[in-house]
Amino acid sequence: MLTNKTIAFIGGGNMAQALLKGLLDFGVVAGNIKVCEPNLQKQKQIIQQYAVTVSGNSADVVTGVDAVLIAVKPGVVPLVLAEIAPLLDKDTLIISIAAGVSMATIAGELKSGQPIVRVMPNTPALIGAGISVIYADKELQEAKLELARQIMAAVGDVDEVADEALLDGVTALSGSGPAYIYLIAEALSDGGVSCGLPRPLADKLAVKTLIGSARLIEESGEHPAVLKNQVTSPGGTTIAAVAQLERSGLRSALIDGVRAAWQRSVELSKQS
Ligand SMILES: NC(=O)c1ccc[n+]([C@@H]2O[C@H](COP(=O)([O-])OP(=O)(O)OC[C@H]3O[C@@H](n4cnc5c(N)ncnc54)[C@H](OP(=O)(O)O)[C@@H]3O)[C@@H](O)[C@H]2O)c1
Repeated sequence: MLTNKTIAFIGGGNMAQALLKGLLDFGVVAGNIKVCEPNLQKQKQIIQQYAVTVSGNSADVVTGVDAVLIAVKPGVVPLVLAEIAPLLDKDTLIISIAAGVSMATIAGELKSGQPIVRVMPNTPALIGAGISVIYADKELQEAKLELARQIMAAVGDVDEVADEALLDGVTALSGSGPAYIYLIAEALSDGGVSCGLPRPLADKLAVKTLIGSARLIEESGEHPAVLKNQVTSPGGTTIAAVAQLERSGLRSALIDGVRAAWQRSVELSKQS
């Protein structure tokens, strides 16, 4: 079903290209995808890399498509929506991935009854390992919601929330989360180097440990605390590290980090 759909992107930046690549890998034909991107260099790069239609003018891409994916920075969203509103077919699904731009703001710029979903994806979508969370109004037709699910499933897992306010927490955890994991990967590698490991080996060990441990949590279905206990032998090396990490406030630092992102997302949502 998805392979026959026509999809337009407004904005051809990082997230748009992650989704674009996922959709093409999934089997959506390049001829069914159009991108509006004002930056000439990016236009060239997108055409060369993905062989899709690219234009600097939104009027060239949005008319008659099944879905329009809004992938510009949050501040530009109202402007872009006002521009495309008169050009949209009444049943074209609008998918906004912009952080902190509310459903009410989006709907306020479009014609009454335009189908809309908000989605919070994350950058591992680039390698098909994203997690996207969808929020839709209760009135949205099931077929439109299913189209949004299928588009996002092309780049990873998909979940849904029934309360729009929860998208701020999603933004704080999985939307911004890749940055926290990169910090942890970098710090683990630094730890290895401080123990005398060569940097390339330390980098590899840090990344492989993160990937392997994350996969083990997912595939075993065990709670992380159970898996932590399994590698923490009495009087051993791991418990020495765990005790030090607790003294250094690792868990509180991560909780506070997610909460800081959440507060910022709430602030941005209120401004939108
Ligand atoms: N990156 C993430 O991790 C992430 C995660 C979840 C959600 N998001 C959301 O995804 C959206 C896009 O983020 P991003 O990281 O992909 O940003 P980005 O790389 O800056 O991409 C935005 C693109 O939109 C283009 N643009 C600006 N004005 C435009 C207009 N009027 N019409 C069409 N295109 C226009 C920009 O061109 P110029 O370069 O010329 O400005 C840029 O190429 C944001 O709303 C963000 O909240 C991002």
